[in-house]
Amino acid sequence: MLSALTSLVVLAAILSPTLSSAPSFPDLSSSVASSPLSPDLSSFKPSKLCTLKPLGRGKDDTPQVENAIKRCGHGGRTVFEKGRYNITRKMTWDLKSARIDLKGLLSFEPKVEEWLQPENTYRVVFIQSQASWFVVSGSDFVIDAHGSGGVHGNGQPWYNHFTHTPRNDGDGRPISFTLWKAKRAVIKDFNIHFPPFWANAVAESSDILYDGMYINATNTNPEFFNQTVVWNTDGIDTYRSDKITMKNWDVTCGDDCIAVKGNSTNIIARDFVCRGGTGIAFGSLGQYANLTDYVSNVLVENVKVLRLPSRVQPNMNHGIYFKAWDGPVSGTPPTGGGGGFGFVRDAIFRNFIFDRVQTAFQIVQNFGAPSGDVPVTSKVKFEKMRFEDIRGTTNESTIVRFECSEVAQCSDITFRNVNVTGAGNGTGVKDEYICENAVGITGLPVPCGN
Ligand SMILES: *[C@@H]1O[C@H](CO)[C@@H](O)[C@H](O)[C@H]1NC(C)=O
Ligand SMILES: *[C@@H]1O[C@H](CO)[C@@H](O)[C@H](O)[C@H]1NC(C)=O
Ligand SMILES: *[C@@H]1O[C@H](CO)[C@@H](O)[C@H](O)[C@H]1NC(C)=O
Ligand SMILES: *[C@@H]1O[C@H](CO)[C@@H](O)[C@H](O)[C@H]1NC(C)=O
Ligand SMILES: *[C@@H]1O[C@H](CO)[C@@H](O)[C@H](O)[C@H]1NC(C)=O
Ligand SMILES: *[C@@H]1O[C@H](CO)[C@@H](O)[C@H](O)[C@H]1NC(C)=O
Ligand SMILES: *[C@@H]1O[C@H](CO)[C@@H](O)[C@H](O)[C@H]1NC(C)=O
Ligand SMILES: *[C@@H]1O[C@H](CO)[C@@H](O)[C@H](O)[C@H]1NC(C)=O
Repeated sequence: MLSALTSLVVLAAILSPTLSSAPSFPDLSSSVASSPLSPDLSSFKPSKLCTLKPLGRGKDDTPQVENAIKRCGHGGRTVFEKGRYNITRKMTWDLKSARIDLKGLLSFEPKVEEWLQPENTYRVVFIQSQASWFVVSGSDFVIDAHGSGGVHGNGQPWYNHFTHTPRNDGDGRPISFTLWKAKRAVIKDFNIHFPPFWANAVAESSDILYDGMYINATNTNPEFFNQTVVWNTDGIDTYRSDKITMKNWDVTCGDDCIAVKGNSTNIIARDFVCRGGTGIAFGSLGQYANLTDYVSNVLVENVKVLRLPSRVQPNMNHGIYFKAWDGPVSGTPPTGGGGGFGFVRDAIFRNFIFDRVQTAFQIVQNFGAPSGDVPVTSKVKFEKMRFEDIRGTTNESTIVRFECSEVAQCSDITFRNVNVTGAGNGTGVKDEYICENAVGITGLPVPCGN
């Protein structure tokens, strides 16, 4: 077990994220950096070893997976040999002081109608009553998928199905990999192939490091080429979680590459490639009138947001964007709502490249409002943000669209060394910088609201 012990010591060392380059805003950067992950895993010696291999075609691997986790999930080590494990029903792992070497893929059977039955998934992610088919909870654990393992979501039949069927939040489409009530954990070199819905969620968790994540939600059915058929395949949603670090991610998806939702604090995301979808998102916030959504201390850096060929994925909507519900309550969650208080503050975004995104920087606060409803009276405030060292292009002319709330104006947003140009820049078409109810916006090449 020496190797497991050694690697845990190494992992403990990489659990302390430090800021590589000299921080330009020492106040904020040091507050993000001063909350390092600090699990004491150094004394870990697995007491048991469980080893599995796939049973083979036509067989159900769920029982052997559950049994291994039951036997070795507390204090032990579980090794999944390479191959595909056929998972036929919802599954939870409860891990304490444990190491999992997941070299194979947990392949969730593609039986859409069955998974959509409410009893066949968990509803542990409170926001929007989202469903999960695989939930991992516990403390002091490592799941190392060695670049070969992870989750196979068998998403293609889901993408086909939801081309014809309306999609709603809370409709039961399952999140592929949910960490819930997890503390001090490392997820390493993990794959999520063809997720039917959000690839990851981390909720009610703290001190988590995701190091190495490959996600690919791509429709491969030519019947649907050029159509947006992989909606809601977010890379990750964070909710009610503290000290979450994500690095080395490659995400191909049709929706948010990252979505930072309510009560996410001390979040670091670095070294990302986001291919297709809607961009790096905050929100939506303020959906629940009775809950406050706080988001603070966020650092996102070294990110490429790249448009894919439209045949593969027609949307690449934003670079970085923020979304909030309007002031009036309109319907009830999971599909309606609004009226909640909240804020995003103390966030740094630096070293980004945008490749033909539709809008580079966007704040929109009128979710749930009838279209054209002005003024916007959302109670969610966006403030104290820095955008630095960002270059690239948009596919139309809007560089900045800040349509903020009259009652909670956007404020103190600084741009430095930002050079994003519209498709018509240089041919006489003016780049657009829209600012409504936004104060203290500095550093843009032209004044906002021009
Ligand atoms: C998965 O297990 C079910 C139930 O035993 C079986 O019907 C199905 O064929 C298996 N799938 C694969 C890909 O082996
Ligand atoms: C994603 O999957 C599609 C379809 O299998 C493939 O063509 C594409 O190269 C993959 N993208 C990446 C970044 O691996
Ligand atoms: C807030 O409202 C939601 C439904 O809108 C409800 O499910 C939840 O229990 C409420 N929470 C509190 C703390 O009252
Ligand atoms: C966020 O945390 C505050 C307390 O700090 C709490 O009042 C609020 O209900 C929480 N919101 C959510 C969405 O859990
Ligand atoms: C998809 O769009 C591209 C260009 O936008 C076009 O060349 C191609 O024929 C379209 N494919 C289908 C299947 O519609
Ligand atoms: C820009 O991209 C968006 C999708 O992100 C698309 O809907 C729109 O048509 C594109 N605009 C042009 C002029 O191609
Ligand atoms: C902005 O970038 C473009 C290329 O995308 C370049 O031509 C232009 O000189 C740059 N402007 C500034 C102010 O750096
Ligand atoms: C083109 O982009 C540059 C750099 O951002 C900016 O200074 C200039 O005003 C833009 N030109 C037009 C016509 O919008």
